[in-house]
Amino acid sequence: MTKNEFPKGFLWGGAVAAHQLEGGWNKGGKGVSVADVMTAGANGVPREITKGVIPGKNYPNHEAIDFYDHYKEDIALFAEMGFKCFRTSIAWTRIFPNGDDAEPNEEGLKFYDDLFDECHKYGIEPVITLSHFEMPYHLVEEYGGFENRKVIDFFVKFAVTCFKRYKNKVKYWMTFNEIDNQSAFNNDFLMCTNSGLLLGKDSKDNEARMYQAAHYEVVASALAVKEGHKINPDFKIGTMINYTPVYPATPAPEDVLLAQRVDQRRNWFSDVQVWGEYPKNVEAYIEREGFRPDITEEDRIVLKEGTVDYVGFSYYQSMAVSAKNVAPDDLDDVFKALTDNPFLKKSDWDWPIDPVGLRYSLNLLTDRYHVPLFIVENGLGAVDKVEKDGSIHDPYRIDYLRSHLEEVRKAVVLDGVDLMGYTPWGCIDLVSAGTGQMSKRYGFIYVDKDDEGKGTMERSRKDSFYWYQKVIKTNGSDL
Ligand code: BG6
Repeated sequence: MTKNEFPKGFLWGGAVAAHQLEGGWNKGGKGVSVADVMTAGANGVPREITKGVIPGKNYPNHEAIDFYDHYKEDIALFAEMGFKCFRTSIAWTRIFPNGDDAEPNEEGLKFYDDLFDECHKYGIEPVITLSHFEMPYHLVEEYGGFENRKVIDFFVKFAVTCFKRYKNKVKYWMTFNEIDNQSAFNNDFLMCTNSGLLLGKDSKDNEARMYQAAHYEVVASALAVKEGHKINPDFKIGTMINYTPVYPATPAPEDVLLAQRVDQRRNWFSDVQVWGEYPKNVEAYIEREGFRPDITEEDRIVLKEGTVDYVGFSYYQSMAVSAKNVAPDDLDDVFKALTDNPFLKKSDWDWPIDPVGLRYSLNLLTDRYHVPLFIVENGLGAVDKVEKDGSIHDPYRIDYLRSHLEEVRKAVVLDGVDLMGYTPWGCIDLVSAGTGQMSKRYGFIYVDKDDEGKGTMERSRKDSFYWYQKVIKTNGSDL
């Protein structure tokens, strides 16, 4: 490895999630997922979570970019860029349409068989998230999502079904996407997508509800990891967190303590999944507040037995916190602590841009966990313009990715970080999770579709497509 190159076998690729690109929401026996009851929002306008699918409302995930019928064409484009891997998720509702069905849906299983075969045709390794914001809606309505211990078994059954079926086609797995998002326990979207909890205006005790539901979720994850390793000992099964480093607004000790506290409240999920036990500070907090009343000795054993093999994480931004907003000992909702970081520019959607924070995160996670890392999301949501000749010039996206990759390279080459791969988010334009927009684009491949759902669905290569192709070809030595 020269000083400019990534390690041999480094997994270059791209990332998506089933509900954000597949469409075909009711095709092939698929059931309704939580993503199917979310309307389109806008920049700063939250998506509405409706009670079931209401005719006449705009649900952007129903059709998305119709990857369901275009996947061969799209994977050929990924292969043209030189992808070594492709991260997507399995829509839980294609396999178990209601979540509590006795038998899996063969048509759904077959769809992913074909999809994975198509990837392998080009030497592309699938990297699979089991649950990426797409829990069966029936489990939410009927059981209250992960607030109900029974949902652990439904998830494990789904996981085991996938592990057995694809044991020779998929090696890299993750259990829950960004499991730590729910640390923002007053946020309707994040609570619903993570744990299937519906809050609404009058909801009370959100923090207590989150700690109990998240406990069942980490137990479900550990059971799945344990079963997965029995099914194929070569499986690499990871956690997946939204890693956002927390900076103190100033060197004032109260700010520094608050930054540590916010980090503890956000990142205990992966602590449990890597260490097999809750960190002391969270145990103490939970006990003091009387949260998570239902934890058994057996749960604690399962957590120890089902630790993950690697830490997959998304990285988009860092956050800064100020004790002027909330004193460290009064912290509950981490959002209350946030303040602006004057040193960083922001994206058009107000996400701070911080490449150095990625090197910092890679080092920090390495020191904390001592397991390999995998950057499974990173990218810039931006508006793209199609020129008269059909070309799309996106230097802002290239700049964003290049500046982040420069920092990643330093972490790997200079700091010795053990990094498995890099899969930038939304390698093909898709529906934004947070806003439901198409116009918030991340892709190397443009998809002709707008926020109202109009367009030809035609795919075209942006400038960044050729840039990323070169990055992969040179194994990251030419950024
Ligand atoms: C991550 C999610 O939080 O960020 C993705 O795992 C999501 O599903 C991505 O799409 C970007 O967020 P957004 O809201 O811009 O789509």
